[in-house]
Amino acid sequence: MSDSLKSSKAEINMSTMDVIYKRRAVRDYLPQAIDKMVIRTLLDAAVYAPTAIDEEPWSFAIIQNQNILDRLSESAKDLIRHGDKNSTEVKHLLPHANTPDYHAFYNASTLIVIYSKFQGQFVEADCWLAAENLMLAACSKGLGTCVIGSSVLALNTLEWKAELGIPAEMMAVVPIIIGLPAGETPPVPRKPPEIIVWK
Ligand SMILES: Cc1cc2nc3c(=O)[nH]c(=O)nc-3n(C[C@H](O)[C@H](O)[C@H](O)COP(=O)(O)O)c2cc1C
Repeated sequence: MSDSLKSSKAEINMSTMDVIYKRRAVRDYLPQAIDKMVIRTLLDAAVYAPTAIDEEPWSFAIIQNQNILDRLSESAKDLIRHGDKNSTEVKHLLPHANTPDYHAFYNASTLIVIYSKFQGQFVEADCWLAAENLMLAACSKGLGTCVIGSSVLALNTLEWKAELGIPAEMMAVVPIIIGLPAGETPPVPRKPPEIIVWK
């Protein structure tokens, strides 16, 4: 474990409930890279997620090359600019895509992409459960994370699969940036759980 990580809140023992409430979508990071061993620990936690009929349909790509992150960000922004202007997601992301300085991965040093290896009814659910395990494990080690849904379209183009060495049949499901948070991220408030029935 790196000194930077040791000196972060990594050594604080947080309860499961603490971690759930402490996790935030972090969009500002310190420049330190994350140790390979720490990434391995997060991947080990990810694959302990529940998985339908024990399929474990996930595969992981770790991208730390800044040139790749920069070009992938530009591809993601370009696809948003050319997306369906009536879609809620495109409407939300368009102002960012039109901002030259906006980087889809902010200044995170690491992007982990969870790919599904095949199709199936619960395959995407499995990948998302693995993603949450990974994000909570990262939070428990003082690391910040953020899902970057805006990069999924770009990651699933044949061009990017070829460049990254991803087999064409695999699908990018969850891209997650990871790094040491540069500061505190205020919580985004939630509505109380809406209970439609409790019999
Ligand atoms: C499916 C999904 C896609 C997301 N895509 C992005 C994204 O492209 N860029 C971004 O900055 N945040 C993205 N987020 C993070 C959300 O904006 C964030 O989780 C939300 O604002 C709630 O904040 P919190 O995670 O700190 O509670 C995404 C989250 C999810 C679940």
